Amino acid sequence: MPAPHPAFDSSVNRVSRDLGVDIPIVQAPMGWIARSQLASAVSAAGACGIIETSSGELDTVKDEIRAMRELTDRPFGVNIAQAFVRDPAIAEFVIDQGVKFVTTSAGSPTKYTGVLKAAGLTVYHVVPTLAAALKAVDAGVDGLVVEGGEGGGFKSPTPVSTMVLLPLVRSRVDVPIIAAGGICDGMTMAAAFALGAEGVQMGTRMVSAAESPVHDNWKQAIVSAAETDTLFLNDRHSPALRALRTDRTEALQYAEHNVFGDFGDAKSLYFGGDMNAAIALSGQVAGRIDDVRPVADIIAGTVSEFAATVARLAG
Ligand SMILES: Cc1cc2nc3c(=O)[nH]c(=O)nc-3n(C[C@H](O)[C@H](O)[C@H](O)COP(=O)(O)O)c2cc1C
Repeated sequence: MPAPHPAFDSSVNRVSRDLGVDIPIVQAPMGWIARSQLASAVSAAGACGIIETSSGELDTVKDEIRAMRELTDRPFGVNIAQAFVRDPAIAEFVIDQGVKFVTTSAGSPTKYTGVLKAAGLTVYHVVPTLAAALKAVDAGVDGLVVEGGEGGGFKSPTPVSTMVLLPLVRSRVDVPIIAAGGICDGMTMAAAFALGAEGVQMGTRMVSAAESPVHDNWKQAIVSAAETDTLFLNDRHSPALRALRTDRTEALQYAEHNVFGDFGDAKSLYFGGDMNAAIALSGQVAGRIDDVRPVADIIAGTVSEFAATVARLAG
């Protein structure tokens, strides 16, 4: 495990404190992908693995959480992607699993914050705008995941880049912030800290990690993507989404109808490697990812580059 930077120490860093980790890097929740194989590697490296619920496969999720406890004794969290988990008992489900940290996303922060916090969990809510951030703080969340529109996945139809959104939210709220969208290394982590974050979340970088369970075709598509190779789809409807440019997504780019219904057969893409079977959610940062690396290397490289960047700026 890399030596943690002083800026990560829980005496000064509220994200490290809240998550109980040495390194305030969070692996993004991602349906079917954010499971124990990937998340345990992240937690074992000193950062924070997250288990998804957006697949809706709660029996499997329960097994994955159990597997996490066998694979690592380090902290991890769970995400509730509200628009995608229709089970009304999802908050009780997460509480019953005994996890301490939860991120809520894709829905109103008023829905679950109270019940999760009453059960003693730490709750961070994912926000794509200043208005959403203020609403989440009013709802009593412990912290925010501030997610810029360059990131992969389901998005607000009015995307705002991390560079604009993060300092804007920082200037208006006091709670700790985890930055998401465009972060893949120590330079971008240092930039996020400069803009007011105390932690970062990586999605696309983790899809392409060696321990990610997705088919190698998707990892290689990320590795070979240019920064211009994502498309922003469905911005006249909700949810909008950012995904890799493929034949499937190019055909949907100018569609009038809600293309969420055209998402496709996720498992044939994720595990079968058919890049046109479904929409391959990925962020613009794919253009900066050049290799498939083990999670431990990604985390260690990020920490050492963060330290070098901060030292360079100071000196
Ligand atoms: C394949 C994929 C699936 C995702 N699924 C979820 C999800 O279930 N819940 C959620 O809150 N965010 C989800 N996201 C968004 C990520 O949590 C993260 O905020 C985003 O990927 C950050 O931007 P980056 O891709 O530039 O790292 C997903 C992203 C990707 C790429």
